[in-house]
Amino acid sequence: MADIMILGSGGFGISLAVMAHHAGHSVTLWTPFEEEAGSLNRLRENPKLLKDVKLPEEIVVTTSQQAAASADLVLFAVPSFAVRSTARRFAGVIPSKTVVANVGKGLEETSLKRLSQVLAEELDNPIVALSGPSHAEEIARGVPTTIVAACAGRSSAEQVQDLLMNSTLRIYTNDDVVGVELGGALKNVIALCAGIADGLQLGDNSKAALMTRGITEIARLGVAMGAKTETFAGLSGIGDLIVTCTSMHSRNRRAGILIGQGIPAPQAVEQIGMTVEGYLCAKSAHELAQKARVDMPIIEQAYQVLYEGKSPQDGIRDLMERPKRHESEVIWLLSKS
Ligand SMILES: NC(=O)c1ccc[n+]([C@@H]2O[C@H](COP(=O)([O-])OP(=O)(O)OC[C@H]3O[C@@H](n4cnc5c(N)ncnc54)[C@H](O)[C@@H]3O)[C@@H](O)[C@H]2O)c1
Repeated sequence: MADIMILGSGGFGISLAVMAHHAGHSVTLWTPFEEEAGSLNRLRENPKLLKDVKLPEEIVVTTSQQAAASADLVLFAVPSFAVRSTARRFAGVIPSKTVVANVGKGLEETSLKRLSQVLAEELDNPIVALSGPSHAEEIARGVPTTIVAACAGRSSAEQVQDLLMNSTLRIYTNDDVVGVELGGALKNVIALCAGIADGLQLGDNSKAALMTRGITEIARLGVAMGAKTETFAGLSGIGDLIVTCTSMHSRNRRAGILIGQGIPAPQAVEQIGMTVEGYLCAKSAHELAQKARVDMPIIEQAYQVLYEGKSPQDGIRDLMERPKRHESEVIWLLSKS
């Protein structure tokens, strides 16, 4: 049995807490919000975020940072925009040997950095990225689930594997942190696009096209940034893309459906009422593609629809009317010197 501290008591934090408790660990769930902690301690659930999931009485929900000082594992489960500020709060509290794992999926908006890079800048700990097809709703129900623990140094990823793997959660290790994190962050943008296609009542052909060409361009960016191609064919790549693009559990897809039905992007995101990581990530991915000079046509159209008021119909037309290509052709925005 280990002491596990989970930072962020939203949908995913709650589901991980329930799973870790059932696996026999002692779990502390942290939130910066007194109201959230109070309500969870009183009601033992958050039906708005996670229906029919009860927090066992033994799980303490707190705004105190104290438990981090003796935790065997600290899990970050806060939205990407809050990763740096949360890490700053805990710097100096988490002992430097304790492994810190992040389950958030996104990029830092201002710096375009991956979340493990942000954590490494703020904390003096081994950092592991946890990613893969894993809806909070299903983790909490104990549905067999597979994810990846990524770290350049194998022993920290194996430590997370040893602590969290159980009969309902199978964890593979991977040393391609860049590929694992980019796959997890960028699939949310493609899921928004898949939702838009659903909102427009296009068919399965269109969704399959978005998913297949989507992972192709994510991999193209990833490889340009140092990732391995095969990572994008794995759990944190195509695996997570499939689950996010096809499920009503996905907030990104649900936001996309509203946009496809004619609701402007900012209102659609507001209507979802929870973190829609793909909305922020579309902007970061667009900038990253420009910086890396990688052609990412779906990301480009997503950016224009989400941020520049382009209609989804015009975006789809512009995607379909692009010049003829070979399926495996790699296009650079500008010729590389
Ligand atoms: N929900 C899922 O199924 C799921 C699955 C895999 C990964 N993720 C990722 O995990 C991350 C968290 O997702 P979620 O669904 O739990 O989000 P959420 O919006 O339900 O909850 C996030 C929680 O983080 C904390 N938080 C919010 N704002 C904060 C701030 N400014 N500073 C510090 N803490 C803050 C709060 O406790 C909040 O409840 C996201 O990056 C998401 O992409 C979610």
